[in-house]
Amino acid sequence: MLTKYIRVDRDNFESSEIEEAADSLRRGELVAFPTETVYGLGAVFNDETALKNIFLTKGRPMDNPLIVHIWDPKQLVDIVAEIDDKHQKLIDAFWPGPLTLIFPRKPEISNIITAGLSTVAVRMPSHPVAAELLRLTNIPVAAPSANLSGKPSPTKGEHVLNDFDGKVPFIIDGGECDTGLESTVLLINGKDEKVLILRPGAITREMLEEVLGESVEDLPLNVPVDRPQAPGMKYRHYAPQANVVVVEGDDGAVIAEIEKQLSEQDNDLQTAVICFDQNMAVYQSQADLVLNLGPKKDLRIAAKRLFDLLRYCDKEEIDQIYVEGVAGYGVGVAVCNRLYKAAGGKIIHV
Ligand code: TXA
Ligand code: MG
Repeated sequence: MLTKYIRVDRDNFESSEIEEAADSLRRGELVAFPTETVYGLGAVFNDETALKNIFLTKGRPMDNPLIVHIWDPKQLVDIVAEIDDKHQKLIDAFWPGPLTLIFPRKPEISNIITAGLSTVAVRMPSHPVAAELLRLTNIPVAAPSANLSGKPSPTKGEHVLNDFDGKVPFIIDGGECDTGLESTVLLINGKDEKVLILRPGAITREMLEEVLGESVEDLPLNVPVDRPQAPGMKYRHYAPQANVVVVEGDDGAVIAEIEKQLSEQDNDLQTAVICFDQNMAVYQSQADLVLNLGPKKDLRIAAKRLFDLLRYCDKEEIDQIYVEGVAGYGVGVAVCNRLYKAAGGKIIHV
């Protein structure tokens, strides 16, 4: 298959540039497109062959449900059975944006999307290219992240091309994603039950609590993989080829531990350190590659860069990656969550 790859300037494009992609979607083809979180691999929600194709193309297990993407909340009537007050408050506050809400589903929704659950996940992206593509398509679009299953999610067009060149008919490159981590996934059960964050993201617990006026629960950061609380949690995620180890603790102790690990490392192995700005110089003499997570004070930059850095390590054929731990508050909760999954539980506390 020949992949059509087009570049679109997110700040300055004509609708006509993405009309062909919208037509492809409407014909039941897969289209990869940028969103403000990560790139998505979309198919229209009412074409089961196309939906199955998403799973085949990604190598994704069929029991991991998909998020339905819309451009206008009025499209919810075809997807969800009910919108309660909490949903409405959050829609008003955060849509369009990186928040996925779980609703009771309409019975007509394909079981391929919901993995047979009684609920359906929906989000309305804010990325101008995604919004326009969804508007032109005017059928809700189911889309997981546009990566091979298990790999770090794509935050640049070239990441999608690396995974899917010749495997999907259409890729829209809209530049680097703003957030760089997937949307916050939120479960709202009923009036009296606690709202639960199934996947942390750029919309933080604190932001949600402020809008809802009640406390919101985070899942424990490192849920054991054999006891998934949300579909998809049991799978290994975000993992580069290299072995990833996260080292957490006070700054000085973290540096000392990573230096010690590097000094004990087999010389044949290619090593990388992913660390904060201020510590870059420390590891230069010992590691083959030192990559910058940005300033410790603004973890939004770490969020934006993380997947790109993990993919870069693959490109450089790194065997062993040490990552400096990230503070677990605000968007740091989401960064930690992805790091822990990339490390598959290999975390050293010092
Ligand atoms: O930012 C994002 O959310 C990106 C962009 C493309 O929109 N999409 C994305 O999709 O990350 P995916 O498939 O990689 O992750 C979807 C997550 C999975 O963890 C899945 O288990 C969860 O959403 N999910 C989907 N439907 C659900 C449901 N009904 N109940 C609970 N979790 C659900
Ligand atoms: Mg994904």
